[in-house]
Formats: sequence, structure tokens, C-alpha cells
Amino acid sequence: MWKIGDIPVDGRAVLGPMSGFTFPSYRDFMKPFGVAVSFTEMTSCMGVIHDSERTASMYLEFGRNRPTGLQLFGGDPESLAEASAKALKTNPAIDFIDINMGCPVPKVLRSRSGSALMDDPARCGQIVKAVKRRAEVPVTVKTRLGRSMESLNFREVLDEVVSAGADAVTLHARTAKEGYSGEPHFDMAESLQSELPVPLIISGNVFSLDDAVSAVRITGAKGVMVARGGIGNPFLVTQIDRWFRDGRRIPSPTISDQIRWCKELSDAVIAEKGEAVGVRKLRSIAPKFVSGCRMCNAYRRVLATEPETREDLFRILDRIEERMGSERAHATCTHEEY
Ligand SMILES: Cc1cc2nc3c(=O)[nH]c(=O)nc-3n(C[C@H](O)[C@H](O)[C@H](O)COP(=O)(O)O)c2cc1C
Repeated sequence: MWKIGDIPVDGRAVLGPMSGFTFPSYRDFMKPFGVAVSFTEMTSCMGVIHDSERTASMYLEFGRNRPTGLQLFGGDPESLAEASAKALKTNPAIDFIDINMGCPVPKVLRSRSGSALMDDPARCGQIVKAVKRRAEVPVTVKTRLGRSMESLNFREVLDEVVSAGADAVTLHARTAKEGYSGEPHFDMAESLQSELPVPLIISGNVFSLDDAVSAVRITGAKGVMVARGGIGNPFLVTQIDRWFRDGRRIPSPTISDQIRWCKELSDAVIAEKGEAVGVRKLRSIAPKFVSGCRMCNAYRRVLATEPETREDLFRILDRIEERMGSERAHATCTHEEY
């Protein structure tokens, strides 16, 4: 058990914020697999302040999925503080506020938000201070190693935000310039947890249990973030959760399990977003449930391009299950055990 401020966290697997994916039904679907903490998609602080309907949909629905942090992006301490206070008033179920200090998307950078904040570590601290003054919940920060390899200033940023009162920090072990590609540099954050007075969540290429174990072994982090690796492989969260609880290594699920979970998620997404929008969204998620099996490339292509309705989607999934159901999905881990 560890804590984000006064919130007890039971488990090591953290569901990372992902724009376009970690909407409420996706978070609720992932939770029972063993998610200890969830984050919303990044949410514009100006959107919260100005009551945009799209923004509200991102932070209003929390259900019973706790603890969940609302992730905000913005560049101005007072606006972030105001948005936090307003969001908490509207949705008292928000367990904590997370500030995005790592997003590399140009549109976000232009508003001096996301990883652009890393140019000014003192401002990162001012943001945390301002949000803490207005929000009566813990405040966390998610950041990267730096803007680029030429400015690896994460230690400075972390010093500022922790001194300002951040209750936990997430480090994506890449630079903003690297985006999401290449190997993360956990070595640069070796034993980082021991230097920090608050919990560290580590992020970067967690696609297997071994990836998670190695990220934690190198950095000492309390939490390990599952982001892209969990899309279409929710059982990865279970494998991580179990390993850190009792050292048990659970085999990967069968395609049949995967199809069942894909249908469960599909129904939840369609219930949240409606059939037309939901099925379009599922075209980018469903194919990821079908991997590690013979013929999976062809099936993935069909799932990504053909379904127009729930009926289409389920018909394709049934066809895959008939042919491949008993095969194992996703390669099992091969690295040395921790
Ligand atoms: C499609 C996509 C959307 C993302 N959206 C966010 C976001 O809204 N906020 C954030 O802090 N990180 C976001 N991330 C970063 C992830 O939370 C995570 O730190 C990153 O993907 C590294 O983990 P991975 O390599 O295991 O996927 C996003 C990543 C992806 C791929």
C-alpha cells in the first residue's frame, strides 16, 4: 500500500492518461483487471473554466472507479487553480488533480502548456502551489525527462514541484522531442524514487510484465503506468498487479478471452458514446485485442476498416473466435524475472 497525499493506493498498476482512449467507459472496463489508480484524458483548464460541453464529459463521469485523478493542462497557475476548484465543485468524486507537464503536441505547446512548462521549472512549482491553494485534494504532476536530450532537466522540475507540495509525480522516461518512440531511458532515472519524498509513478513502453518489472527495478517507483500496452491487452494489468502482490506469473489469455473482453468493452463504449461514434472509436481499439495468433494481421485489418455497427463488429469477432479461440493472445514474457 502506498499513498497519493492521504489517498491509499492498493496495487502498483496505474492506468495512464491517454487522450482519445481513457474516457469513462474505457477506465471502468480496465479497473477490475487490477488498476490501482486511474487518470482522465488530459483536459483543458480553459475548457473547464468556460464550461465546454466536451470538456465536461471528460471529467464528470467517475462512477465507482476510484481513485481517479483529473488531468488538466494549461500554462497559467491561476487558470489551472480556478479550473481545479471549479471541477471539484462540479464533481466531488475527483480524487486528485494531475497537472500535465509532458505533452509534446504542438497545439498544447503553443499555449505554453504540457512539456513547454519544462522550460521554466520555477513556473512548474508556482502552478502546483496555486492549485494546492484552491483544491482540497492531492495534486500530482506528470512530466518527462526534458524537452530534448540537450535539456534533461527533470530533476530540477521535480525539485520545484515537490517543494511546492506535489503529492506524487509521474515520469515518462522519454524527452518531449522523442514523442512516443524509441526505448525509454529508465537508466537516467535510476533509483529516482529514493531521491523523492513522494511516490513516483514510472511510464514508458510498458507492454509486458517484464517491462513493468524492469522499470520498477531500475527506478524504484511505487507505481508503474500502463498506457498503450493496455489497449487490447487489459490482462497485462492483472499480470502486473499479481506479480507485485505475490510474485505469481500468470499466463496470457486465450483469443477467446480477448474476444469476450473486447465485446464487453465495445458494449460499454457504445453505451457511453452511441453506436456510430462508439463503433468508429472501436475500430482503433478492437484490432489490438487480436494479436499473437496466426492470421491476426488479416483479422486486425478487417476490424480496423469494416465494422459500421455493433452487429458488424460482433459478427467479425465471432468469426475470429470460431477459428482462433483456443490460441493464446500476446506473447508471454521472456526476460529474466525480477
Ligand atoms: C494516444 C496517446 C494519448 C496520450 N494522452 C496523454 C494525455 O492526455 N496525458 C498525458 O499525460 N499523457 C498522455 N499520453 C502519454 C501516456 O500516458 C504515457 O505516458 C506514454 O504513452 C508512455 O507510455 P507507453 O510507452 O507505455 O505507452 C498519451 C499517449 C498516447 C499514446
